[in-house]
Amino acid sequence: MERKLKLIAGSANKGLALEVAKHLKIKLTPVDIHRFNDGEIYVRILESVRGSDVFIIQPTSSDANLHLMELLVMVDALKRASPRRITAVIPYFGYSRQDKKTKAREPITAKLVAKLIEVAGVDRVMTFELHVPQLQGFFDIPSDNLDLIPIYAEHILNKKLKNLVFVAPDVGSASRTRSLARVVHAPIAIVDKRRPKQGVAKVEHVIGNVKNKTAILVDDIIDTAGSIVESASFLKEYGAKDIYVLATHPVLSGPAIKKLQNSPIKEIFVTNTIELPKEKKIKKIKVISIAPLLAETIKRDHEGIPMGIVYEKLYDKLKKRV
Ligand code: R5P
Repeated sequence: MERKLKLIAGSANKGLALEVAKHLKIKLTPVDIHRFNDGEIYVRILESVRGSDVFIIQPTSSDANLHLMELLVMVDALKRASPRRITAVIPYFGYSRQDKKTKAREPITAKLVAKLIEVAGVDRVMTFELHVPQLQGFFDIPSDNLDLIPIYAEHILNKKLKNLVFVAPDVGSASRTRSLARVVHAPIAIVDKRRPKQGVAKVEHVIGNVKNKTAILVDDIIDTAGSIVESASFLKEYGAKDIYVLATHPVLSGPAIKKLQNSPIKEIFVTNTIELPKEKKIKKIKVISIAPLLAETIKRDHEGIPMGIVYEKLYDKLKKRV
């Protein structure tokens, strides 16, 4: 018997879920999500999911605690309704940056969240550009962490920018930056960033040549925008001509928008792993949709067809352009 594909949206990013549903030519499975007077979460799936292959789209973005709890409650509601399989699509995995102890008596929250998701009853997980790829190992269930390198490379090539250098805003971002630079055949530079205290970024050196170049800063997350803006100002001092940013997850908390507005950065490319509220939609920020890639991944996963070939095709297409 053919398993039915069902797509369910939590409240964190309904826009993305609707886009994916459109690509898959299906309707979202209706769900009632509301809060009790005391703040507790109520969820009811409004049609049968018995025997179905269910995908829930829910980034655990701000409010991370609320969206995480909502995901867990949704999974519990589903689990009790006898689907064949539940996949949690978590385009942005909140708590991912607390992935190790840096001081005594700290938690490893990324691992705790992975365990909570598993215990709730999720069978597999899909994520995008995890803060560090080894976070996949925090799950004991199958997981796919999709990278967006070929999609970013295509966008950069479309912009027809000259004399490029890809810049990692810290050592942690160097491998992601290198992968992208390799596809576009451009050099890289690395910013030596320190964190004197939480939420504060301090840049001390730039390793590599950025003089008179078009610098493209590559990061996974823009949170307060401290790292990116501090790096951009430093690159300017080191003689970079123009500065662009590619960052997957637009967390954009606190002063981020104001800092980005006033920065020397020309354009900031982010994705819709996190839905941008109206007040964060500024002219400098361009959103690249992950919906086509996500829809294709869900389709292939549902039909049991490997995903590798999609990436091979994307890279072949790029090879012809560089
Ligand atoms: C840090 O390791 C991450 O990759 C990002 O660079 C960081 O989370 C960005 O934070 P903020 O925008 O607050 O500097």
